[in-house]
Amino acid sequence: MDMQKVESNKYAYFEENTSAEIVNARMGSEASPRLREVMSSLVIHLHQAIKEVEPTHEEWKQAIQFLTDVGHICTDWRQEFILLSDILGVSTLVDSINNRRPTGATENTILGPFYVPNAPRYANGANICLDGKGEPLVVSGRVLNTAGEPIPGATIDVWQTNDDGFYDVQQKGVQPDWNLRGVFTADADGKYWYRSAKPHFYPIPDDGPVGKLLGVLGRHPNRAAHIHYIVTAPGYAPIVTHVFTPDCPYLDEDAVFGVKHSLIADFQKMEDENRAESLEFSCPFWSLNWDFVLASQG
Ligand code: BEZ
Ligand code: FE
Repeated sequence: MDMQKVESNKYAYFEENTSAEIVNARMGSEASPRLREVMSSLVIHLHQAIKEVEPTHEEWKQAIQFLTDVGHICTDWRQEFILLSDILGVSTLVDSINNRRPTGATENTILGPFYVPNAPRYANGANICLDGKGEPLVVSGRVLNTAGEPIPGATIDVWQTNDDGFYDVQQKGVQPDWNLRGVFTADADGKYWYRSAKPHFYPIPDDGPVGKLLGVLGRHPNRAAHIHYIVTAPGYAPIVTHVFTPDCPYLDEDAVFGVKHSLIADFQKMEDENRAESLEFSCPFWSLNWDFVLASQG
């Protein structure tokens, strides 16, 4: 045996104590600096977790089976790995890291799987609640920059569930197409307004392995009631966000950790019969005043 060769590479053979370093030393020069950084970190943290937990063979087999089940349920329209990332708080963390903004600017949160581009464009004041369900809601506000100046022409793309807790795309043929979706444009003073229905909490898809995981962790699958928005204007960083109702029973325990304190809004219950009549609403109805604050691009 060539003992010189055996002793020349301290990372050649497996040792428990230095397992991560041994694996990382195997990367070749083909690995880009970024891939090297990502994989090294992943291997170090994965090995550290395994050393902390010390899984049995049976437990590790269960973990592999779980990931296999997550893969098997994925289709073109069902992405269970994203759902897994969501319920572990990783989707919101990645979104936050990539959307750090100056103080005063509206915070981002996750996009979610139910955004549909090219929703109908409406004039301010339109009612996007096409199924007539739920408690009527009027939303108004301004789109501003961080200096407090209006941004005329800003685009406000909105989508939400209906009162039964489903997006239109989850109930094709049941809800009218484009129910509770629309694109509005801020006027010369940066103002926008539209009519809708108060959002309702709803469960994320929980009929797969991620739902099962939530169950054994003693967690529920519900998302706190929210309205989704994408707000854009030339020269400004786009905002992808939600606005949350303050009275939702799941506000403090959103299944995907999408709630940020600054995104909880003051929905006011209104008893004003005259205003209800002018909005073609029944009474009582809800009113939300919400300004979006955009940070300059870059
Ligand atoms: C949503 O808000 O639409 C959503 C986000 C994450 C998972 C499922 C739904
Ligand atoms: Fe949603």
